[in-house]
Amino acid sequence: MAILNILKDEDPTLRKICRRVEEITPRTLTLLDDMADTMHKAGGVGLAAPQVGILRRIVVIETDESGLIELINPQIIKTSDDMQEGYEGCLSLPGKWGITSRPMTVTVRAQNRKGEFFEITGSELLAKAFCHELDHLDGILYPDVALHMLTREEMIEDGLIDG
Ligand code: NI
Repeated sequence: MAILNILKDEDPTLRKICRRVEEITPRTLTLLDDMADTMHKAGGVGLAAPQVGILRRIVVIETDESGLIELINPQIIKTSDDMQEGYEGCLSLPGKWGITSRPMTVTVRAQNRKGEFFEITGSELLAKAFCHELDHLDGILYPDVALHMLTREEMIEDGLIDG
């Protein structure tokens, strides 16, 4: 168990395309454990491997309702037509907030730590997290797709930061 360094802002690693995990090794499992610890410590809802400098298709997500979700080689296989608009932030972009439009419900197919394929469907925050974290695996950060990035004044007005 270890807390990993989260890459930030303009770090070029955040813009790379991650490779598939072909073989799940003890190192993969250690990485999953460390990513969960790092996400918990940072108070985030999700973390993708490139954010800790590992260019592999691995994601961890945890909302209050979902419990810990580990995704290896995840793919979005279904999205709802109805959308949700709301705040989005990222542990790699501290002090920034944006408004994004994401599908209300998203289904992901992935492998678990035993290499078994499974499907998981999430709505609201979990759906947003699936989109956000899977984008990280292709070097996409939420400001790339945001409808609007909040100004400092807007962040203070909306209570996201202290004035
Ligand atoms: Ni992020």
